[in-house]
Amino acid sequence: MIIQNICVLGAGLMGHGIAQVCAQAGYRVALRDIDSLVLEEGMRAIEKNLARDVEKGRKSGDEMSAIMNRITPTLDLKLAAAHADLVVEVVIEVMDAKKALFEELDTIVPPPCLFFTNTSGLSITEMAATTRRPDRFIGTHFFNPVPVMRLIEIVKGQETSDETLGTAKQWGASLGKEVIVVNEAPAFAVNRILCPMLNEAFYALESGIASPEDIDKGMVLGCNHPMGPLALADLIGLETLLRVMEGLHQELGDKYRPAPLLRKLVRAGRFGKKTGKGVFDYTEL
Ligand code: 3HC
Repeated sequence: MIIQNICVLGAGLMGHGIAQVCAQAGYRVALRDIDSLVLEEGMRAIEKNLARDVEKGRKSGDEMSAIMNRITPTLDLKLAAAHADLVVEVVIEVMDAKKALFEELDTIVPPPCLFFTNTSGLSITEMAATTRRPDRFIGTHFFNPVPVMRLIEIVKGQETSDETLGTAKQWGASLGKEVIVVNEAPAFAVNRILCPMLNEAFYALESGIASPEDIDKGMVLGCNHPMGPLALADLIGLETLLRVMEGLHQELGDKYRPAPLLRKLVRAGRFGKKTGKGVFDYTEL
């Protein structure tokens, strides 16, 4: 299948990153959000990332302009999706919101169009079942920050066809990413392992085992992780981590119970870097 036009739904942290790597690979991208502020911020973040590449001599100014020109920001779902060969959904990590969107999309977008969802751990099969094309539906899980991280975890739903899997793998490679293929399971492979480790860091912190700085320093210097678990949780977003842990807890039981401190920080609106405060304070940066 030839893919030229991609519709990315959601211009937040992951959505604008996915739009950027698609446009860099030469695809025409419609980037849609329901919130004009989020859309503007997403476009600004893409521009900033590309400007850094120009500054560092990795891209020319002309290449940057061509990439920006391939991205059309819009608030209009029909406009964004009507001519898409491929839709990548990157909206809020809530099953009902994702299902409602796919149900609507199914009526707007002609059947050959593929549906990809970037979810941190929700069931691909459940989302696909709301459409008339569960065979053309697959999970494509990107990692934050999208332009830097090399992996896409491709997640097969119950009805995903081999053809759709093949197209998703080719598309991932065309973006310059490595892919792994995972059968559907709660939080898939990477988050199934990563998120309980991050959650454990919150248990360690609330038990007074060490300061946040020392917990992070321990994992950076003792395990060679690029950043500590608490700083990584702040980068991902504490609300996202909590949602993944709640899903794991619900599906797999008590071993995965979210740390009370994680829940408390989310209740306080401390979502991490994006809100200025999480475990650490970023307001001075
Ligand atoms: N967007 C684009 N580029 C970025 C970026 C961003 N948000 N953040 C950093 N970069 C680029 C920088 O420009 C820099 O590139 P350059 O040196 O070529 O100019 C390069 O990445 C390194 O950045 P820094 O020098 O500022 O800092 P570090 O060397 O410490 O790297 C990091 C930052 C890449 C975030 C690194 O610490 C890292 O790899 N951390 C782990 C990230 C991780 O584990 N991500 C996965 C999270 S799980 C997930 O996303 C799944 C979800 O479902 C929960």
